[in-house]
Amino acid sequence: MQLSRAVLLLLSGFILSGLRAAVARLLPEPPNRIAVVGAGIGGTSAAYFLREKFGKDVHIDVFEKEEVGGRVATTEMMGNLYETGAYVIHPLNLHMKSFVKELGLTARTLPEDNFGIYNGDYLVFHESEWFLINILKKLWHYGLNFFRMNMWVDNVMDTFTRIYRYQASDYSFSTTEALLHAIGGSDVVGKLNMTIEEDMQKSGFSQRFIEDIGIPAMRYNYAQGVKINGFVGAVSLTGTSSGLWAVEGGNNQVCRGLLRAADAQLIQGTVTSVQDRPTKSGFTESQYEVTYATDKGTESKMYDIVVIATPLNKEIGNIDFTGFSPPIETVCRPFQRLVTTIVLGQINASFFGFQNTSPFPLSEIFTTDNHNIFFCSLTSLYSSNSSPEASDLRIWKIFSVETLTDEELHQLFVSYSDISVKRWLAYPQYNPPEKMPPIVLHRGIYYLNSIESAASAMEMSAISAKNVALLSYHQWYGKEEKINQLDLAERLKSEL
Ligand SMILES: Cc1cc2nc3c(=O)[nH]c(=O)nc-3n(C[C@H](O)[C@H](O)[C@H](O)COP(=O)(O)OP(=O)(O)OC[C@H]3O[C@@H](n4cnc5c(N)ncnc54)[C@H](O)[C@@H]3O)c2cc1C
Ligand SMILES: *[C@@H]1O[C@H](CO)[C@@H](O)[C@H](O)[C@H]1NC(C)=O
Ligand SMILES: *[C@@H]1O[C@H](CO)[C@@H](O)[C@H](O)[C@H]1NC(C)=O
Repeated sequence: MQLSRAVLLLLSGFILSGLRAAVARLLPEPPNRIAVVGAGIGGTSAAYFLREKFGKDVHIDVFEKEEVGGRVATTEMMGNLYETGAYVIHPLNLHMKSFVKELGLTARTLPEDNFGIYNGDYLVFHESEWFLINILKKLWHYGLNFFRMNMWVDNVMDTFTRIYRYQASDYSFSTTEALLHAIGGSDVVGKLNMTIEEDMQKSGFSQRFIEDIGIPAMRYNYAQGVKINGFVGAVSLTGTSSGLWAVEGGNNQVCRGLLRAADAQLIQGTVTSVQDRPTKSGFTESQYEVTYATDKGTESKMYDIVVIATPLNKEIGNIDFTGFSPPIETVCRPFQRLVTTIVLGQINASFFGFQNTSPFPLSEIFTTDNHNIFFCSLTSLYSSNSSPEASDLRIWKIFSVETLTDEELHQLFVSYSDISVKRWLAYPQYNPPEKMPPIVLHRGIYYLNSIESAASAMEMSAISAKNVALLSYHQWYGKEEKINQLDLAERLKSEL
């Protein structure tokens, strides 16, 4: 009797532990610790989405060597804040839109300004204050090209917004090409292989329009001309839409808010290496050793998943991947230098061929491709906490590739006083055909900024952050059916 009871107990014990093992095999242990390198909009939104996906128990560290926000940054001048980096957000940038809502921030619609196009000698085109005159001027100069552009941009955005449906349905992609392909098939992936100039020509835009309007738009957004790839070129042209907005009090409040909402720990330090420390017991022990330098010296911590949310460029990210076999090859593409100069000044109207008009009638001056022009754009700024000024003394933002000299400033301005200069390695130098760097660098290491090789923008980083959070989750739990699914457009149509 006693013996059979013991046997029974033993048997049930076996069954129970067998069951437990089977369940464990079906559902791996959740990760304990996740590292995110970089606290720009990419890293902070990754932390946010990783928390959303993996739940409250995982520990998330975000490393930042400089300031939270990265290329989303403000400078203070005379008590007001001005954006020195990423400024403009499109109304259909739905992740940015929902962050602002979730975080209780306020969106501020940017005024639609009168612009002019400067070719080094004079303004080849400029708007006037009168709506009807502008329409006639545009028709006179460019026929239907402006209308064609509006339709073209609407079409691009319409295709682009598919990504939100895929992500809302939990689908992820393991390469940037697959992500772009899911959005718009080979039409969209093909844009990486052609210049925006070729793409615009193919779509029937006139050469004059491409030179007068296309080039200045590219120079304003990416400090490069129309030889950049068609995808980033299209992103650039979406900046001609109406309803563009920014965050009241500074866009980088989004980054700080996301970090808080993610309940992530910010570690102020420079990550120098990520090392592979394979463990025999598989998923139960953290595998990646992240080494970082702080004021106090060098330290390291172990993680299950590592998200790299900075360009892996020697001059920027500069992270060594050691102990990996095969080795992790990091692609270092050259980045475009860009200088943001913010000044309080009175513009030199005669420089642009105006005769003493006061107040100066334009708020934005863009430039054509001419070596003699020492700046890319000149735009009037409203501080994020004061209303537009009518006076001729205004705050201007200048984008240029080189730092402006005093002489150059004296050409642009009759007088100027306060000045603030910020130098950036701003975005990749685009040069089709573009090859996208991998997203998956190792089983648990993800490269969020791969997407920047297609186009650099805040929303692109946020989309990539969501994709990396979904992808790392599905790879961790082996949900292959949520990765790289083709014909999602068709499938989701029938699911809805
Ligand atoms: C002047 C300018 C204007 C722009 N205008 C717009 C715009 O109007 N609209 C728009 O959508 N986009 C704009 N962009 C592009 C936009 O800023 C970027 O696409 C976006 O901010 C990239 O975010 P990210 O988080 O991927 O990278 P980053 O913002 O570069 O963040 C990376 C972070 O990682 C940190 N870091 C790097 N290496 C390490 C390391 N080893 N250890 C620890 N930390 C590290 C960096 O300090 C940085 O904070 C503009 C960019 C510039 C420069
Ligand atoms: C783009 O060009 C590359 C070669 O540079 C080629 O492998 C790829 O198939 C091309 N893609 C498309 C969509 O044309
Ligand atoms: C303004 O522009 C004109 C024309 O380019 C130039 O001659 C002059 O030196 C500039 N500066 C001032 C302060 O007028």
